[in-house]
Parts: sequence; C-alpha cells; structure tokens
Amino acid sequence: MDLDIRALRANTPGCAGGVIHLNNAGASLMPSPVLDALKGHIDLESRIGGYEAAVEAADAIERFYVDVAALIGGHPDEIAFLDSATRAWLAVFHAMDWRPGDEVLTARSEYNANMVSFLHARERQGIVHRLVPDAEDGTIDTDALEAMIGPRTRLICLSHMPTNDGLINPAQKVGQIAAARTIPFLLDACQSAGQMPLDVAELGCTMLSATGRKYMRGPRGTGFLWVRRDWLDRLMPHALDIRSASWTGVDAYEIASDARRFELWEAGIAGQIALGSAARYAREVGIAPMWDRIQTLAGDLRGMLSGIGGVTVHDQGSDKSGIVTFSHARLNAPEIVARLRSVHSINTSVSACQLTRSSLIAGGTTHMVRASVHAYNTTQELDALAEALDAMTGTRGAGLSHANKNDNSSPRQPSLGVEQ
Ligand SMILES: Cc1ncc(COP(=O)(O)O)c(C=O)c1O
Repeated sequence: MDLDIRALRANTPGCAGGVIHLNNAGASLMPSPVLDALKGHIDLESRIGGYEAAVEAADAIERFYVDVAALIGGHPDEIAFLDSATRAWLAVFHAMDWRPGDEVLTARSEYNANMVSFLHARERQGIVHRLVPDAEDGTIDTDALEAMIGPRTRLICLSHMPTNDGLINPAQKVGQIAAARTIPFLLDACQSAGQMPLDVAELGCTMLSATGRKYMRGPRGTGFLWVRRDWLDRLMPHALDIRSASWTGVDAYEIASDARRFELWEAGIAGQIALGSAARYAREVGIAPMWDRIQTLAGDLRGMLSGIGGVTVHDQGSDKSGIVTFSHARLNAPEIVARLRSVHSINTSVSACQLTRSSLIAGGTTHMVRASVHAYNTTQELDALAEALDAMTGTRGAGLSHANKNDNSSPRQPSLGVEQ
C-alpha cells in the first residue's frame, strides 16, 4: 500500500495551519475524520442531551472496542477505554495482588511515571523493583533480564519506545522470555501504538497500555488498555463502580468479565468515539507504510542534525523510532524549543533526561530537544528545522545537504511543500 502524502496532509487541518508540527511524540495533529467524530458527538450532546446522545451513539461506542482491538490484533472484549496511557497502566499495575517481596523487573528506559509507581508500591506494598541493565545499544539487555528472573518475579514491565530516546526496545524477545517463565508482561506501547504495526500475540505481552493523542492521532484525554483474556480474571480492579461491576443484590456485586472491569461509568464519550475513529483511520491509511515513512524521515533528520556544528544527536538503539533527540553545545534545549516555536513556527518539545540517562549526556546536559516525526511530515519540513537551527546556532552551511538557506530572524512562513 502506497501512502498518498498529499491526501494525508489534506486530511490534516493542522498541516494548513501555519505550523510545522514535529511534536508527534507529544500529541499529533488530528486528521479530519477524528476531528469530525469528536465534534460531531459533542454537537449531538449539545443538541439532544448527553445521555440521549450516548444512546444514539451506542453503535459508535461499541465500534471503538472493535477498531482498537483490530489495531493491535486483540479481541474487543480485551479492550478498555481510559483517559490516558498512565491511567491504563496504573489500572492493571494496581490490580495485581502484590505481596511484600514480590519483584518487578524493568528496563532503565522505563517511562518516568511508571518508575514513580514502582517506588510508590515499594513503599506501600513492599515490592522489590529491579532495573535490568542496558545492552550496548541502550535497549534492555535480554540476557541480563533472563538471568535476573527469580522465584519472586511477578511482573516484567517495558516501555516499547521510551519517551526521550529514539531506541526501540526488543518487546517481542522480552515477551518470549516472559512467556517461557509464565510471568505476566506489561508493555507500555504509548509511543508505538499507531506508529508501528503491533500484534499482541507476536509481542507476547499479557497487558498493553497506550494513549490516544500521540501516534494514533486521537484527541487528548484518551487512552486504552488491552488485557489478554486469560488474565482478566486474575486482575482485581482497585476501584469498582456500576460500569466495572453490577450491583446484583443488596449484599452482592459481580465484576464485569471483560476488560470493561477497568472502566468507570462516566467517560468522555466523544473522545472514545474519536479514538475508535483514529484507530480505524490509521488502519485505512496503512500502519506499515506509515511506519516505513516515519523511519525514513527520522533517519534523514538525524543525518541533517549531525551535520550542524555543535549539535549532538542522542538516540540510541540499533532500530530507531520517529523520536529524534538532540542537544546543542552552547544553546540549551528549552531555549531552542522556545525559539523554534516563536520565531520559526516549528513545534518540538523539551525532553528531560531521566536519571538513568543523565550520565550519557556529555557536559552535564539535562535537557534535550525532541523532534518527533509522523508520516504526514515532509522532508521540506525537516529542511526548515535544520535551516532554523542553522540560523539560530550560527553554524550555517556546516555540512547540510539541503538548499535554500534563508536567514530567519523573523517569523518564517513554514514550507508546506509536499513530496509523494
Ligand atoms: C513511553 C510513555 N509511556 C507513558 C506515557 C504517558 O502517557 P499519558 O500521558 O497518556 O499518560 C508517555 C507519555 O509521554 C510515554 O512517552
């Protein structure tokens, strides 16, 4: 399946909005079908009432489970709608029956909020949290993981694509190791869902959490959880209501048998329908060709950045994602990001080095610039970023392959050139 970049951009109102959006690992630009689904439901609520709109949209709500399941090769009854990836992750992490001394193994590149939860659970429930060393390329060392598994290991957690590094952790290998030892494996697919093809059976995970607003291109305040059928019963939600359970008698309740046991009755239904639409849109456009393009664009960007004097690209990993991180010897990351935004209308973000990464950044740099590409981005947009950095850092012409270097001390009109 070939990607029609022109159509992809025409379907993305933000592409005509005068910004160059390279903050897809933060929140992507929503495509029109997602925006229409979101606005359409809010409009319906405003016209006929929120409860009445939910009744009318019953089919669209059910379709969310089908479309999201299809995106990752799961079953609709294994999907729950939550308002963020963290909420989804927390829902299962705290549904485990933790006993003092139980052990969790994770990589050093684990998402920082998950790290905080490990420390919290260590304090509250006495769990033992152990960090698996990195392999030479910065990904989790799977031999070390295997060697660290012991009789008290109850869970393996992994961030598939860390938030502040272009590396891709070998999730499938970790899944094989977990399966061989019958240990549940919780995969944080927050950055990989919608970015690369995912199949939960191939990945060998037991639970998977993801957000809506990043590479899936859904709205903010949305996320989902997938739990393998045979694990649903083994996880006890830490909070129940009349969605996650039924009040079956004065003294009795029954917990939902499917993944809706992790939902609550009240939810942002417009967001849920829109996230279902985002999953459907991604599959219609084609995740595999989008993934190819994302890797190509990110590789090109790393090449361009490496040619700019003073810039260091920090991404590790043999296989790399659409997340590109870099720093400059003289300018700090918040300054670069602010100037890119205010002077050049280019969106990037500041990525704080996690504690585990700080030693890797030369000269005590604590922050990096994160430029994250999606399939709708263009090489012209990457050129514009390189030109802006070039102008900003005063190293113009230092090994850049792109042409047309204009001085940009005033707000630029972003290049909206499109290639196929
Ligand atoms: C790898 C990873 N996991 C989890 C999260 C948290 O996602 P959310 O903000 O939707 O809870 C992020 C957000 O940046 C992330 O990059």
